[in-house]
Amino acid sequence: MGKGFFVTGTDTGIGKTTVSCALLHAFAAQGKKAVGMKPIAAGSENGQWHDVELLIAASNIRAARECVNPYAFDPPVSPHLAAQQAGVEIDLAVIQRAYQALSNQADIVIVEGAGGFLVPLNAQQTGADLAHALNLPVILVVGMRLGCLNHALLTAQAIKAAGLPLAGWVANCVDPQILMLEENIATLERRLDASLLGVVQFGNEIDMGNIALLVGKE
Ligand SMILES: Nc1ncnc2c1ncn2[C@@H]1O[C@H](COP(=O)(O)OP(=O)(O)O)[C@@H](O)[C@H]1O
Ligand SMILES: [Mg+2]
Repeated sequence: MGKGFFVTGTDTGIGKTTVSCALLHAFAAQGKKAVGMKPIAAGSENGQWHDVELLIAASNIRAARECVNPYAFDPPVSPHLAAQQAGVEIDLAVIQRAYQALSNQADIVIVEGAGGFLVPLNAQQTGADLAHALNLPVILVVGMRLGCLNHALLTAQAIKAAGLPLAGWVANCVDPQILMLEENIATLERRLDASLLGVVQFGNEIDMGNIALLVGKE
């Protein structure tokens, strides 16, 4: 049975897919069978869900698409609204079964959440319930821009409240204009109770050199 990580972020559009793909490549380079999963994708372009395509391309084993991506919706809106509009109820048991199937095939499953950690999935549940149902250590991608310290600390608190370990965090520099980048990163290093897995400069390739920090937390 493979091990998994749940990749969440301080917001949407801050690098979860980018980091998830880098993690898949890094685990593959260690000789592991690594597969990506996007349980819920909302927002298609020309009949394609970019996150799903990128994760499939970054995986080194082929898995059934319905397991990689059990739920896909066209409009780029919150999963609970997209599902409601489509007349679908997002069921965590469906996602759990899909995850199990991937986990039986792979050494590592990288699960990319939708939006931020507390994004609503249906009338009652949020992304935190999904991460809890899968019972996975969480990797937090922080989109380094003004306001991210608050978002990062709130997200870390929500991960703790969900009873899940924070396996590590990644500083992804999505704003080339950010002031005091080093000081912001140092602030989070002091205040987040987890290892800094990597710093990604704006426009640069991701170096997941610190992926070794995840070994043992798989
Ligand atoms: N460090 C970076 N430098 C420049 N662009 C980035 C960086 N990280 C992500 N991006 C770009 O920002 C956009 C959102 O990233 P993505 O990984 O899709 O975020 P998410 O999965 O959180 O929505 C993509 O176009 C991606 O290529
Ligand atoms: Mg994404």
